[in-house]
Amino acid sequence: MDQDIERVLVHERRIRDRVAELGARISRDYAGKDLTVVALLKGGVVFLADIIRSISIPMDLDFAWASSYGDRTTSSGNVVLKVVPDTNLRGRHVLLVDDILDTGRTLARVSAELTDRLGAAEVKTCVLLDKAARREVPVHADYVGFEVENVFVVGYGLDFDDRYRNLPYIGVLKPHLYSK
Ligand code: XMP
Repeated sequence: MDQDIERVLVHERRIRDRVAELGARISRDYAGKDLTVVALLKGGVVFLADIIRSISIPMDLDFAWASSYGDRTTSSGNVVLKVVPDTNLRGRHVLLVDDILDTGRTLARVSAELTDRLGAAEVKTCVLLDKAARREVPVHADYVGFEVENVFVVGYGLDFDDRYRNLPYIGVLKPHLYSK
């Protein structure tokens, strides 16, 4: 797998340190509140596994799965929810966790579902990566690991054609692999 990576954008050690910082901040901000973490499948799971272990206050966990039809490296505007949380979110403070905020369509769609249909009291968002240059809808993340440039990235949960999720760092895939 490493041979498919053009360069490492965020090393394992930096990810670990930043995730610990974010977890400590979340623990302070949500102290005394009913926190439910909702993670987006599949890309958010590696980040999720690390961040919840750096959250030191009681919390519940659930999952959502949204997918959008597009080409292999960009999402389309049509975000479809395939899995919605099945725990009762009414009145809960939800922290939505995802790997990357790109156009913003996924987080906008899922946040709306959690508040409008499932009755969450509040939805905040936490992403490992923010590709602000690509934003198409006005979404901002409340907790961001790293701002990244506009390149297609893989690793630490992020995939290309469902591969590379298990790389322990964030890397830039060699362009010839996805332009074929
Ligand atoms: P939107 O555009 O809705 O996209 O904010 C969020 C979802 O798109 C995927 N995505 C990527 N996946 N490398 C990836 O492996 C990337 O550079 C990338 N950019 C967006 C990702 O699934 C995210 O949840």
